[in-house]
Amino acid sequence: NSNRPNADISHVYRGTFIHSTQQTALQILEDTLLGVDTDGKIAFIEKGAELNQLSQIFGFNPSEVTQLAQHELFMPGLVDTHIHAPQYCYAGTALDMPLLQWLNTYTFPVESRFKDLEFAHRVYTQVVQRTLRNGTTTACYFATIHTDASLLLGQIANDFGQRALVGKVCMDRNNSVKHYKETNQESQEETCRWVSTYPLVRPVVTPRFAPSCTGALLGQLGAIAKNNNLHIQSHISENVEEVKLVKELFPESESYTDVYHKYNLLTDKTVMAHGCYLTDAELALFRETGASLSHCPNSNISLCSGMLDVRNVLKHKVKLGLGTDVAGGYSASMLDAVRRALDTSKVLTIQDPEYETLTFEEVFRLATLGGSHALSLDDQTGNFEVGKDFDALRVNVAAAGGPIDMIQCEGPKVRSIGLNECAHISTLINKSTTFDFSFMLIYHHF
Ligand code: GUN
Ligand code: FE
Repeated sequence: NSNRPNADISHVYRGTFIHSTQQTALQILEDTLLGVDTDGKIAFIEKGAELNQLSQIFGFNPSEVTQLAQHELFMPGLVDTHIHAPQYCYAGTALDMPLLQWLNTYTFPVESRFKDLEFAHRVYTQVVQRTLRNGTTTACYFATIHTDASLLLGQIANDFGQRALVGKVCMDRNNSVKHYKETNQESQEETCRWVSTYPLVRPVVTPRFAPSCTGALLGQLGAIAKNNNLHIQSHISENVEEVKLVKELFPESESYTDVYHKYNLLTDKTVMAHGCYLTDAELALFRETGASLSHCPNSNISLCSGMLDVRNVLKHKVKLGLGTDVAGGYSASMLDAVRRALDTSKVLTIQDPEYETLTFEEVFRLATLGGSHALSLDDQTGNFEVGKDFDALRVNVAAAGGPIDMIQCEGPKVRSIGLNECAHISTLINKSTTFDFSFMLIYHHF
């Protein structure tokens, strides 16, 4: 890595750092020094470096280095590539029917309430605070069709120091709830208002999914995204019934992927949730266009939608992150998504013992670097590389309630990341906003 000796250093940390790289699913850097410049960017990261020498090169005072304890470590902030902010208010309930019925029965009626800005403010504050406490420093949100409430979500995320991508949802057909629908023209105009009004968060062009949008609207949204070089998000191939419906609605298209592709909605800034039933040919089209997938295993199981074959997605070299998909998924924690992704992979292995099960390290990478890559933010976040933002979780594995032997263990070494409850975390992003929370981690001793 190329250090930046001219940087103005504001913080230096010393201790254990764990993160992923393109080559290594989980890299453990012990006794490492990391410097953060005044813009919050990583100025240097050096393993086993000589402190005095580094302090001379970078001009910081060695006595001001923050030394992590033996039972602490830094890891990159978690990236939730797919979450519905308004659905947080009923997460954990209403998982008693398949996707299309669930949308009409629960989701659309609840989302229609977000016209009320006071209600939106309450729920959006809760979801941003909760996800930050769970270690999500970057989230890619669906809001609702309401532009002003969507702006509010962006504002709240920004105020709390969460890196957010936010989509005002677009839908101009197939909705059983009377007042929760736009005309084609409203959807287009409001999307333009949305993308031009709020510079603080990244606006995402968000057709809900093909069944909710006419071809005309999909085409207009593709054009808006292209003309403004914007992110795009939607759902794809989540559930068998949905795939069948898309075939009926778009008989001229070769596949579900082809529908989005035709309307210029598959770009290298696109993230599509689910993809359980994509064919190899469709995955090849994802690869070709640079579009990415968000794997939402809790939702896939909770709604009995399907199981994504992650190994096959990775073999096709399609960019992939993890998502909670609240409220299809009942947990707003990315660590839950890590667990569920492992579970799904293991179920696939039970069904076929030849199946190459995902390792914990690979899933850790999906939850961090994979997610930031999938959202095209990997030049800014996802791991500890010089020039990226210092976007990190400070993990204390010996916090109250943690396993006793960790506290007593002398000079613990991180062997691999495991599945443990009860660590204590601070979230550091931008100006070192700190949050405490309990966390499933991820630590092993030997
Ligand atoms: N497909 C279209 N809308 C939704 C949604 O809100 N949740 C999920 N899981 N799938 C969808
Ligand atoms: Fe979703």
